[in-house]
Amino acid sequence: MTANSRSDDPSIDLDDIGTNPTSNPSFSDLIASRLSRRHLFGLGVGTAGTALLQACGGGGGGGGGIGFPVLPPAPAPAPPPPAPAPPAPAPAPLKLNFNAVAKSLDDVVSVPAGYTASVLYRLGDPIANGVAAYKNDGTDDPATYDRRAGDHHDGMTFFGMDGSNKWDPANAARGLLVMNHEAITPLFLHPTGQTITGTGNAAVRTVADEVLREFYLHGVSVVEVNKSGTSWSYKQDSLFNRRVHTLTEMTFSGPAAKTDYLKTKYSTDGSKTRGTLNNCANGTTPWGTYLTCEENWAGYFRRIPATDNPSRTAKEITSFGRYGVSSTGRELWATVTPDTADDIYGRWNTQVTGATATDDFRNAANTYGWVVEIDPFNPASTPKKRTALGRFGHEGACLGPVVVGKPLVWYMGDDSQNEYLYKFVSTKAWDAADIGGGMAAGDKYMDDGKLYVARFNADGTGNWLELSLGVNGITSGNAAYPFADAADVVINARLAADVAGATKMDRPEWTAVNPKNGDVYLTLTNNAARTISTTDAANPRYYNDPKGVAQTAQKGNPNGHIVRFADAGADPAAVSFTWDVYLFGARSTASADVNLSNLVADNDFSSPDGMWFSHATAGLLWLQTDDGKYTDVTNCMMLAALPGQVGDGAAKTITNVDGATSATQATFIGKAPGADGLRRFLVGPKDCEITGIAESGDGRALFVNIQHPGETTAAANISDPTKFGSHWPEGGTARPRSATVVITKDDGGLIGL
Ligand code: FEO
Ligand code: CA
Ligand code: CA
Repeated sequence: MTANSRSDDPSIDLDDIGTNPTSNPSFSDLIASRLSRRHLFGLGVGTAGTALLQACGGGGGGGGGIGFPVLPPAPAPAPPPPAPAPPAPAPAPLKLNFNAVAKSLDDVVSVPAGYTASVLYRLGDPIANGVAAYKNDGTDDPATYDRRAGDHHDGMTFFGMDGSNKWDPANAARGLLVMNHEAITPLFLHPTGQTITGTGNAAVRTVADEVLREFYLHGVSVVEVNKSGTSWSYKQDSLFNRRVHTLTEMTFSGPAAKTDYLKTKYSTDGSKTRGTLNNCANGTTPWGTYLTCEENWAGYFRRIPATDNPSRTAKEITSFGRYGVSSTGRELWATVTPDTADDIYGRWNTQVTGATATDDFRNAANTYGWVVEIDPFNPASTPKKRTALGRFGHEGACLGPVVVGKPLVWYMGDDSQNEYLYKFVSTKAWDAADIGGGMAAGDKYMDDGKLYVARFNADGTGNWLELSLGVNGITSGNAAYPFADAADVVINARLAADVAGATKMDRPEWTAVNPKNGDVYLTLTNNAARTISTTDAANPRYYNDPKGVAQTAQKGNPNGHIVRFADAGADPAAVSFTWDVYLFGARSTASADVNLSNLVADNDFSSPDGMWFSHATAGLLWLQTDDGKYTDVTNCMMLAALPGQVGDGAAKTITNVDGATSATQATFIGKAPGADGLRRFLVGPKDCEITGIAESGDGRALFVNIQHPGETTAAANISDPTKFGSHWPEGGTARPRSATVVITKDDGGLIGL
């Protein structure tokens, strides 16, 4: 979550309000096939003939310390053998081996006994020679912020690095930690918060230096980290250290590159733009680069419909509405005057102001909403926005199983209410010779492929619907939005997905792939827009979870859930899948139709968001929460889980209640995890979100990000530290700072086991 810093009510998360007006398949629209679910699972999971590897967000070492092992091609289908082969010895099952951390409202990071969490990399920390330590009082020189840690640490990857500065996934003591800085808590960045005069459409920022700080504090960090003895630190003077931010030049590739849709005053041929923004979750490639994902970027652009719409086509207005580009601009960046010669403020104004698209920034919003590739091993490289992966509110891009001779696949959530799950399948088959290939490998695998969106059927199956011009109703004759060309489809991927008939989900956040069996997990964090009449099998809950002593209503699906699915035949390029709900978030004290996973005090949680399978301990799943619903009882947290597989539970019909109204909803629920299958490992400080996770090559150091502690501090209290929502990590009267912590086990062992 990144609360809109200009909202009067900090509990309202304006970023994630849905802009999906369609009536895409609800339960009642779908024709249940009545196929036996048990039969479907037999087809989907049991036939996996190829060992699987997933590398989402990781870069850490795989089992045996080999990182991204490259698997041989799967053998062609062969006739059944004359006799069954003897079963391979089963590996020893993983076992959680720590005492659960209790729910807490304390302003600390709590981890189990026997573990240590140390602060590694905080907002403002200098990452270049000559940059002073951060004073953390709002007076640091704005010009230095392009060489300081950004704010709101988020998705993160550890790229192990060898002595010759090459990617070495197994390295357990040295690497490049690459992380997103999703947003800012502006109150703590300037002497007394943002300086704004006027209100409504007339509100303007009057201190350009404040805005410059904010430009630099978004984006991505690349920072070298090293282990010495048992402790980790970042290397301030590493030549690999780099900040990518909202002023960094980036190029486009894929179907939308160099098209009219991306032409601006800055790039008259539509080949480039400046910056990346609202970088939420992340992803990796098997050739060793980082993917940063642009999530709720729409609100940063200034576009006042009343004045801009008369200059726009009907298609443009439809597109702006579907993506939510219709506000004064989240941080009012466009309002600074005078502008610079290169329009660093005015480029956030996406209104028509000039004669043509190359005279203004009317198309600027089309230059955001992408997956961006960064080569951390080449600090001089130019990041690329890979348009083939579609434009939406990208949460993350999780790499699926990597198999030589097979296409590569990335799974991607679109985080807003009632948005969709997507995947991209490369045209080119994976060739291990491309490891270390940098951005050229990205050109090969990420610029050419098929984009799909998911439909979850009521019978436990699902379909991947291709988003290409001319298929699934995505045509020039489509009445709601006539698609012109391939660029139009990827730029307006949400509109294409609407036409194709995707399933509206309860805010799709991170995806993760289980390295043991290829099952794909999707966190659905919560959805206040779900109603009792719009539940469906994959988004089955509607209820009221009263919060706090005031019993404030929290209706819809306030605590979220986690769906998982298995692509048919264990083939990530398959166009069908089977699914179930792995977990439902809930208070352990909630009713049976709400606490559907039988959570207990040691593992109850709300609003799952970050999610990642450890590589070093294949099968161990980490869950992180971005919660505002259970925060009357506990701060946000991280849990360890040992999930089973799609279909290990049963069909279930639940009863949803809305006052005097009730309705039943059929779904499929995985086996309840129990205390041995899900356990709370960490609770963060006040007012934070836990998001972003990576591990060293041996899995014995876990890097975790603590985002926006104290973010709901009222603006009026900036001069009274006793009223700050948090003082973490420095304590005392300090302003709070987002930061990376590194967690180690005191005996040097694997984390969590
Ligand atoms: Fe940025 Fe969807 O969390
Ligand atoms: Ca979130
Ligand atoms: Ca997130």
